[in-house]
Amino acid sequence: MTEKKPSSAEVTAKFKQYLFPSNATYYAEPVAIESGKGTHVRDYDGREYLDFFGGILTVSVGHANERVNAVVRAQIERLGHVSTMYPTLPVADLAEKLVKLAPGKLDKVFFCASGTEADETAVALAQAHTGRQEVIALRHGYSGRSMLAQSLTAHAKFRIVSTQVAAVKHAHAPYCYRCPFGLSYPSCELKCAQDIEDLIQTTTVGQVAGAIFEPILGVGGFVTPPPGWMKLAVEIVKKYGGIFICDEVQTGFGRTGGKMWGIEHEGVEPDVMTMAKGIANGYPVSAVLTTAAIADAWKGGNISTFGGNTISCAAANATIDTIARDKLLQNGSAMGNVLREGLEALKAKYPGIGDVRGRGLMQGLELVRDEKAGDRTPSVETTLRLLEETKKRGLLIGRGGLYGNVLRVAPALIVPKAEIDEALKILDESFAAATR
Ligand SMILES: Cc1ncc(COP(=O)(O)O)c(C=O)c1O
Repeated sequence: MTEKKPSSAEVTAKFKQYLFPSNATYYAEPVAIESGKGTHVRDYDGREYLDFFGGILTVSVGHANERVNAVVRAQIERLGHVSTMYPTLPVADLAEKLVKLAPGKLDKVFFCASGTEADETAVALAQAHTGRQEVIALRHGYSGRSMLAQSLTAHAKFRIVSTQVAAVKHAHAPYCYRCPFGLSYPSCELKCAQDIEDLIQTTTVGQVAGAIFEPILGVGGFVTPPPGWMKLAVEIVKKYGGIFICDEVQTGFGRTGGKMWGIEHEGVEPDVMTMAKGIANGYPVSAVLTTAAIADAWKGGNISTFGGNTISCAAANATIDTIARDKLLQNGSAMGNVLREGLEALKAKYPGIGDVRGRGLMQGLELVRDEKAGDRTPSVETTLRLLEETKKRGLLIGRGGLYGNVLRVAPALIVPKAEIDEALKILDESFAAATR
């Protein structure tokens, strides 16, 4: 006898009954997803969607990718989990691949299970290496949900307790569209980066352990620093004895087009790099990369039970091989350009689109009351309507930004032009419907 398949409503009802109420879902009626293939997912009622959010920028080479699945299946049959107490080939191979792919002199890897844990490890490493405690993070930045990560994170919405780690100091974000100093680039002379010197001189002991910066602020709504910001900000942090932690959790693995890492667009070498999300096409693993000298500073014991899980590491190896074999960095760059051009055309058409920003296949639209009339009041209601309208037409996209008024458009790196065109058409129709 075959079991009766549940409906989307039944799955959602059970999910809502048992999960924490804080486990938010998109849409008035959530999309309960039963299966996925490539850039498409299907709900429990059989409805198909074009997925331009990919499990929050995680499914980098497409749902149920055949190469990743084959490697994962073989690994499951061979060995599941033993921890990094025992050397295994998938773990050693992944470490080698990451070191070869990493910019600069990062040649040691620590595996853990989430972006939160990677950021936590990186900050502890900076403190152990420098012997100092204070760390610079960015307003609008996101690091995750542990106590330290919540303290690093600068979005009230993601904090349930006040800043617990007093050593974290928040610099202004390089958020040109809403410049914290009311200036414009380039005449601002990067005031927001220069201000980091003032932050260090006035709120710290005068020397810092380091700074953690995302090359593009993901949860912050794809806020993209202007040219030169990263270089100047890192120079100032180094002048005061700190190291640079680059958080590539969202921007890594080809997301920004043409390059493996977001930081490669900036001409700056990180001392520590954290990564998660797209690393294993949806399997849980994260990594911290650093130099041998910095890694040596961790004198205590160090084990993350699920870090270096063989199945996740095998999936990551297959993801990296797929990106190389199928030239997905190039596709990300080419398709990113098509997407960006289409979004700019929408901006010219709809006054509610205030800003288009991002790189490669990481593009955001900030929605405001009326850009043409100079009214940049965040338009949260329209953003929510846009989500509903795009869903109605079979397109899944994400939302972000401090005010919740940024649409995040981030398909898998395998996306073909026809699907970018389809998504742009749906967005156009949805803007027409939502702003009527
Ligand atoms: C830039 C950045 N860092 C860290 C994290 C935390 O990752 P995780 O949710 O895997 O703990 C996230 C998650 O969205 C992120 O975007």
